[in-house]
Amino acid sequence: MYVIGGTASTALAERISRELGNAPFGIPFVKRFPDGELYLRVGGRLTGEDVVLVQSTRTDQDVIELLLLEDAIREAGANRLFVVVPYFGYARQDRPFFPGEPVSARALGRHVELLADTVVTVDMHSPLTLKSFTKPAFDASGIPAMARLLTERPVDLLVSPDKGGVDRVRRMAQLLDKPWMALEKRRIDSEHVELALPSNGAPDLEGKHVVVLDDVISTGGTIVEASKLLKKGSVRSIAAACTHGLFLKDAFERIKAVADALYSTDTLDNPAEKASVAPDIAQLLRRECGAT
Ligand code: R5P
Repeated sequence: MYVIGGTASTALAERISRELGNAPFGIPFVKRFPDGELYLRVGGRLTGEDVVLVQSTRTDQDVIELLLLEDAIREAGANRLFVVVPYFGYARQDRPFFPGEPVSARALGRHVELLADTVVTVDMHSPLTLKSFTKPAFDASGIPAMARLLTERPVDLLVSPDKGGVDRVRRMAQLLDKPWMALEKRRIDSEHVELALPSNGAPDLEGKHVVVLDDVISTGGTIVEASKLLKKGSVRSIAAACTHGLFLKDAFERIKAVADALYSTDTLDNPAEKASVAPDIAQLLRRECGAT
């Protein structure tokens, strides 16, 4: 077993290699041609090896690197190729919302799975996307990693910022044995949302340590509005927790201005990384793929 980390996921790939019993770990040589095209080369003796390739696809360049890495690993004669995409970009466009739109998640998935034996994602926006894959595809959960962190932090109440996150917050509530609620969210545009307490009643918030849990923090608009709303209820502290920390533009600073703590997993490199999904990805690889 050999683990290769693309430039978007080098640190996480190394953690996964350690979790897989210190499997040999490598990074590709990467450079850009004068016209901006990517050149890369993988080293190591990959002939006949099972290879775990780890690369999040936050940017279009990350996608190109992933596809080239898969091709290079196949060219090098690898046996089985397990492609781990911890943050799968374009996942939110999982259906056409208006006529003429693509199903971007499916379109990307088709290319990613082409040379893979198995694809592993983490908290994919919609589980339906994995159903469109023709190869075995598994979605690891970021919840156990965040739960390991939150057991060491004060938590009285878990909050999902929208109804779409109910399963996530309920699962976390079960793991931590804490109560939960889901806010009601209306998205105004890609950067603005309106949030309200649940119309069927909210628990008493006064003096509580509250954790707002989301799958992705992108512009930070959702978390900022959730924090402002919860503060009106005189909570004692607010922590924001997510699996995928994109933190676009000044999201990090805007959230830090209204929340007391900010936690993310390591599916994307970011300043709030506090929990690692490496043990959970390694466990899934061992269980579903027979990785040792
Ligand atoms: C929405 O469905 C997601 O679960 C997140 O709530 C959303 O992507 C967060 O985006 P932002 O940080 O831009 O509000």
